[in-house]
Amino acid sequence: MSAFTTALDALRRHREEHRDFDLREAFRDEPARFERFSARFDDMLLDYSKCAVTEETFLLLENLATAAGLEERRDAMFEGRRINVTEDRAVLHTALRSSSGASIRLDGQEISRDVEAVLAAMARFSEGVRGGSLEGATGKAFTDVVNIGIGGSDLGPAMATLALAPYHDGPRLHYVSNVDGAHIADTLKGLAPETTLFIVASKTFTTIETMTNAETARGWVKEALGAEAVGAHFAAVSTALDKVAAFGIDSDRVFGFWDWVGGRYSLWSAIGLPIMIAIGSEDFRRFLQGAEAVDNHFRVEPLRQNLPVLLGLIGYWHRVACAYPARAVIPYDQRLARLPAYLQQLDMESNGKRVTLDGAPVQTPTGPLVWGEPGTNGQHAFFQLLHQGTDVIPVEFILAANGHEPALKHHHDLLVANCLAQSEALMRGRTLEEATAQLIARGMDEARAAELAPHRVFPGNRPSVTIVYDKLDPFTLGRLIALYEHRVFVEATLYGINAFDQWGVELGKELATELLPVVQGDKEASGRDASTAGLVAHVARLRK
Ligand code: F6P
Repeated sequence: MSAFTTALDALRRHREEHRDFDLREAFRDEPARFERFSARFDDMLLDYSKCAVTEETFLLLENLATAAGLEERRDAMFEGRRINVTEDRAVLHTALRSSSGASIRLDGQEISRDVEAVLAAMARFSEGVRGGSLEGATGKAFTDVVNIGIGGSDLGPAMATLALAPYHDGPRLHYVSNVDGAHIADTLKGLAPETTLFIVASKTFTTIETMTNAETARGWVKEALGAEAVGAHFAAVSTALDKVAAFGIDSDRVFGFWDWVGGRYSLWSAIGLPIMIAIGSEDFRRFLQGAEAVDNHFRVEPLRQNLPVLLGLIGYWHRVACAYPARAVIPYDQRLARLPAYLQQLDMESNGKRVTLDGAPVQTPTGPLVWGEPGTNGQHAFFQLLHQGTDVIPVEFILAANGHEPALKHHHDLLVANCLAQSEALMRGRTLEEATAQLIARGMDEARAAELAPHRVFPGNRPSVTIVYDKLDPFTLGRLIALYEHRVFVEATLYGINAFDQWGVELGKELATELLPVVQGDKEASGRDASTAGLVAHVARLRK
């Protein structure tokens, strides 16, 4: 039996022995529980005391991490070893935010110089757009920038642009991702071709959604301003420089990155160009510095003080030992409204895998379903299920102590109170006796109170973690994203899977390519299953 299997068996036994662990009792019996089960990184606090864990749980989880070679694998990633084995690639998004000047070499190349060169080119371009010295074909400054990309070439910049709205002093930013023509049509409706700049963002420059939207945008500029105007209204971000040239975008408007940057880890690269245009190169640097601070923390802190490690161990505990199928991420911050969608790709595309690094079926569950919405909105939508539904879904609350609107402090007070109240309610719950007593205290007769009280019982004992920091500024957003990136890495290491490939997105793409001529009526549906053929026929009838 391997050391890992032994450690996993011990963890599972521990869970079985503590199945009746009660958080309310734990808080009653352990005055130091919050201190013991929380960790700080400067102002950033991770409170995991409202999870059903003990010191022994963490000893067992640490044993497991050691048996999985977590620290060695972490070091291998930072050193640029080819840990993405199925694509034979290094995983070096951390090099994009390394300001230490330390040499990072890959295949004999000094990559930190390449990274700096692209950052400098991005800064020149974005300052030109922001300051108005870079103009459209008719000599007008750009008022609007449309990023065309999807997945990692969209979600990160779109999430960060909204998150950093208080720092946004550049032109307006728009994001078009969906191949649904409604997306680009609705976006372009309010825009003027003369003052609109498009950034075509695609690592591969082959993604059908992005290429289709880019061609539509090119047609829109051409129709309004003529073919010769197109060059002045387009820039591109890609690793496939030959394909960008073939599309017709000038090489001085192309910002490259590298195959060692995964799509969902790419917002630190030139894919972050729209963020830089929105907030300026100095604030973009602060965003990178925040991520770098977490990289350094992740590399050196002991496991029990290491925030990404702790978050990963808790995630693994909930998913594998407790068998919870999902986790909800609830930022109490309207400007983090796109964070759950961003984390869905980061987490689910990374850890939604069913074979280990060597291709054998995994022996444990892997990545959970990740979902969420900002609080307090979620409270009025799905929190009912979190509190009284039959599944336990651990919740991750994210909260800034301070907002950006000092004149609206009372709003922020309410936001904070609601966030803290929800984690307290999940943990504490309300017993039948408490529910009955409350109804009677309100003047209800005993018989009716007995009827209604069961509906008002909250089982409680439901786990949550809370991440609190001072304020959502560029530095802190960088920290938050890097924290989640490394947590995904920690969990992947424990699952024994490759977090950096995404073969699961391929089959659907291949079948869509096959089905396009069928949908267009140029090919028969014969040979396809009856459901697909029937759906094709029904759509065709409705489109006649
Ligand atoms: O379909 C999945 C995916 O490959 C993601 O991993 C990636 O972020 C996205 O598509 C977009 O890819 P690209 O940047 O190459 O257009």
